Amino acid sequence: MENFSFYLPTIVHFGKGQISSLGASIKQFGGSKVLLAYGGGSIKANGIYNAVVAALKKANIPFVDCDGIKPNPPVEDVNRGIKLYRDNGCDFILAVGGGSTIDACKAMAAGVCYDGDVMDLMAGGKGEIKTAAPLAAVLTMAGTGSELDLGGVITAGADHKKHTIMHPLLYPKFSILDPTYTFSVPEKHSMAGSFDALDHLIECYFIAGSESTDVQNMMNEGLMRSIVKNAPLILENPENYDARANIMWASSMALASFQFALGKKGSNWPMHAMGHELSSLYDMTHGVTLALIAPSYLAFTLEKAPEYTWLFANFARNVFGVVETDDALAAKMGIAKLKEFTLTLKMPNNLKEVGVEEDKLEYLAEKATEWGNIGALCKIEKDEALEIYKNAFA
Ligand code: NZQ
Ligand code: ZN
Repeated sequence: MENFSFYLPTIVHFGKGQISSLGASIKQFGGSKVLLAYGGGSIKANGIYNAVVAALKKANIPFVDCDGIKPNPPVEDVNRGIKLYRDNGCDFILAVGGGSTIDACKAMAAGVCYDGDVMDLMAGGKGEIKTAAPLAAVLTMAGTGSELDLGGVITAGADHKKHTIMHPLLYPKFSILDPTYTFSVPEKHSMAGSFDALDHLIECYFIAGSESTDVQNMMNEGLMRSIVKNAPLILENPENYDARANIMWASSMALASFQFALGKKGSNWPMHAMGHELSSLYDMTHGVTLALIAPSYLAFTLEKAPEYTWLFANFARNVFGVVETDDALAAKMGIAKLKEFTLTLKMPNNLKEVGVEEDKLEYLAEKATEWGNIGALCKIEKDEALEIYKNAFA
């Protein structure tokens, strides 16, 4: 196993009614005036906004609204939040929403402490995060794991590229995870979020070096299994508390401190790199892009990295219950089961079905690999990415 450092400072308040801990938790981290950031209005329709405001008022904590943060959050929303924070003398950022709102708030937290363009602070940028405003999350949608990790994804530029901001100072100080808050998430987003979490686990599972990381692999398999079991239960009944609770906790655990990639040889998150380009060009929902790419990516990788057939076979047997003693057959059956699972979640069948144009595949492959090889078990540069997109096309 490779060396690693593990750091996870976020406090989690999990369960029904945990919003009651909001006021004291903000004060615990020195917050006295809050920038209250949220998305396009779902929290007003489902009552979460009222619950948050009531908790802030009860604790005598003034706040300023920063509404309208869009999915795949654009940097303009981040800049608006930075200005509101500064103009109103805030000292704490509270994100109430899904990954988009939390990610935008992470960029705001770094941006309010930086005297320059917040884009400088993205991965590969010329700036450096030296300090950040304290932030916390009230999670309303399960999937990204942003509530328990140090990263965020921001859309910027004429090509709508997705940029990553990442720093240990950007871990939320605390996250409130009330599964009942996710009852109102529309079916499409519930399933997209569930698949996103599963895909995080898959990205972390299929990395070189996995032959030595039994703890990571076996914990990961258990979490994957819990998603395969519980996501369909949400389809049957969106108010199944335990199904929502298990998906919420599995999503948070999946990315918590990137724990399941630790001790391995590193990855550039190939499925995410390829999925992000679909979001950039077509403004597609993140989890949907992954459901479209994952089976094609895994089939390609199995072919190019046959020395990892055993890992694919483990995935098939330990996640999908495949009973087959021959590794090569089991490996293929696991990928077929994953594809079947995307359809169970009512994800689209192929890129063509969602309006992706065939003549854009080359551009997508070029953009996904513009910073170099994105492969985790085998090389994936432009030609390889193109083949994966083509296999996912129809
Ligand atoms: O904007 P509102 O009105 O709130 O509606 C949202 C939005 O339309 C709605 N929603 C959320 N909670 C709801 C609800 N509707 C009803 N009831 C509720 N309780 O759901 C829609 C999607 O929300 P969004 O926040 O965009 O979804 P998600 O959580 O999937 O976040 C996606 C973003 O996270 C990034 C993605 O790239 C994408 O930009 N990611 C962040 C990661 C991270 N920070 O570590 C890792 C991920 O791999 C991912 O890249
Ligand atoms: Zn993701």
